[in-house]
Formats: sequence, structure tokens, C-alpha cells
Amino acid sequence: MAIEGGQQLPWVAHLERTRGPFAEARTLPGEVYGSDQILQLEQRGLFAREWLCVGREADFPAPGDWFLRDVAGDSVIVMRGRDGEIRAFYNVCRHRGSRLLDEPRGQGLARIVCPYHAWSYQLDGSLQQAPRMGPGFCKEEHGLVPVRSGLHEGFIFLNLDPQAQPLERYLADLPDLTRFRMPQLRRGRRIEYEVRANWKLICENYSECYHCSLAHPQLTRISEQISRDERGQDIGACFNGGPMKLRDGIETMSMSGRSNLPTIPGLSLEDCRYVHYYVIYPNMLLSPHPDYVLVHTAWPLAPDRTRVECEWLVTAEALAAKDFDPSDVVEFWDVTNRQDWALCERAQAGVTSRGYRPGPYQSSEDCVHIFDRWYAERLLELL
Ligand code: FES
Ligand SMILES: [Fe+2]
Repeated sequence: MAIEGGQQLPWVAHLERTRGPFAEARTLPGEVYGSDQILQLEQRGLFAREWLCVGREADFPAPGDWFLRDVAGDSVIVMRGRDGEIRAFYNVCRHRGSRLLDEPRGQGLARIVCPYHAWSYQLDGSLQQAPRMGPGFCKEEHGLVPVRSGLHEGFIFLNLDPQAQPLERYLADLPDLTRFRMPQLRRGRRIEYEVRANWKLICENYSECYHCSLAHPQLTRISEQISRDERGQDIGACFNGGPMKLRDGIETMSMSGRSNLPTIPGLSLEDCRYVHYYVIYPNMLLSPHPDYVLVHTAWPLAPDRTRVECEWLVTAEALAAKDFDPSDVVEFWDVTNRQDWALCERAQAGVTSRGYRPGPYQSSEDCVHIFDRWYAERLLELL
């Protein structure tokens, strides 16, 4: 698509430069932030082929609990079966293709009945009844089309690509985060944002704190960046990231710097000094804190629009407490998020201008470069 008459367009050459060595690399070309064609390519080549975090197992505890998720333009049903297994299916009837479910989520579903001609499906996707289809019809051949799903640390992942590597292999080099007991954590709060910026700008912005002292005075007061030498290499095939240190006397990332939530049981004193930030490609941003885990997922709606879903996961003990009040931590990150979205929107306006030229990375922006390099390599494969 981007190759016209066999000639590489200049922006493809910029992609090559982005994936070059850090010192000489330049940021991504503007075309990747503003083009419908590129977004379609990303939907087909990235979002329809990579493992994507779509929700939390704990939010769908009982058989018949379900939710819908749009992935790369397709509606997918994620559903817990009578056997307790979570499965995913295209939201498409096997008769004449009608959309089956419309609401975003629900509970206690006994079966799925197609609104068109009343074919009905069991919770494991098998076809239960197809009225008056006659004796030659084979029900077994007309179950819902499955979508691959998997669980990691309590998160539900989907992959539309039947050929994709298994989830465990995809996430194999992610640091061991079991000490944060994420499968046991519960959703304390959820906020959805619509940001007028490309989804990659959100991942890039998350990957650096070069902007923090100017944009986030409340964050800078309570946490500090640490050098690459101190934090070591936190980079793998599916992720990059690193920790920031809480300043002396600070307990967690909150407006007050204090924590009124129980610490995640079993964390070491050392763990309680840090907040970790991981970008798990393509669109999951995961931040374990001493007393909660913050997770964002960024879903492209248009080249210049992204829905960001943000959840604060807390211990079950915290959620059950009569005086549970996460407002100190929710407000902290809500304020910080909004500061970040404003920066992303400002960047969106600039990177899609004729006046934009890919720029150099500052030394603390190594994770932005790693994300951009991952993206540039994927996109070059797709062109
Ligand atoms: S399209 Fe679903 S039953 Fe006909
Ligand atoms: Fe920020």
C-alpha cells in the first residue's frame, strides 16, 4: 500500500531510521499517527494478530457471565461456561450471520438465542437447537466460531489469529509479577476516557517521564525517576518498562502520598519502595503499586481517537471494608491521566502537521524508542 510504483515513500525510510540504534534513531513518521490506511493495516496486522488484554477473570465469576469486546472491527463474545471455563466466540450466528448479542455485558445467560430465526447456542458455543432445519442438518458442524483466549495473572487475553503462538509463549519473558497476587485483586474503580490522539502516542507517553517535572507536579513530588543502570534492563519480546522510586516517607501514588488501602500481602519492604510501569504490546499498560495495580488498555477508534480503559485493582480485603474509599489513589491517577491526555492531544496536533519532522530521543526516553522500534518492525513487515 505504501509502496507506490516500486518506490519507497520517504516515510517508510523514516521507519527504518526509527528502528536504528538509539543515538541515531528518530521518532516515528507522522503518517503513522494520522492515516486511515495505516489504522486499517494495524487492525489487520496487529490488533487481529496479537494477544490483547480484554478484561479480568474476576469480573465474570459465574457461569453465564459474559461481555462483548470489539477487536479489530469484530465483535467477540467472552463467556464463562457451565464448567467454569472462559471461552470466546465471534458474535455471529452460524445460520445467516446475524449479530447475536448487543448489550456490552450481562450475567446469568442460560443460552444464546439468535434474534433472527431463533437458533440457540449453549454456553460452550455448541449449537443447541435450529428450528425446523430438517433431518439432514448436522448441529455439530454449526457451533459458534471460537476465538482463542487465555488467562494470565487474572487477565483475559484474546487473539483472533488461529496461528498465533500460545499466550504463555507470547508472555514468556514478562517479569514474574506473581508477588502482586493479581488474580486475587478486585476492581476498585474503572474510568473510561476518550482521547483525541492516536493510540501509539498514549503508549509512548506512558513510556517516559521526561515530561513529568513539567506536566505532573503532584507525581514528581512523590516519586522519582531512577537511572537505567540502577533499574537494569526490563525489556522483552512482548514488553518494556521499568520502575520509579517512591520518595522517602511516601507510601504510594496518591494525592496525599499516604495509603489508606492494605498493602498487597507478602510484598517485601523493597517492593514497597517502587512502582513498576510496563507496556505490554500492543496496548496494555500495567503498573503494580504497593497497595494496588493500575491497568490501562488503549483501543483505537480512529487514527486520532482512542478509548482508554483504566482500572484500579485492589485487594479483596480493601474492597470488602466498610470504609473502602479509593478516592485518594483514583484522584491521583485521574488527574495524572488527564494531564497526559492533554499532552497526547497536543502531540497529535503536531505529529500530523506538515511541519512535523521525526525528532531525536532524550536519554531517558529509551523505552519510547523500544516501543517505537517494536512498532516500526511490525509495520515494516506489513507493508
Ligand atoms: S441468522 Fe441466526 S438464526 Fe438465522
Ligand atoms: Fe505522564
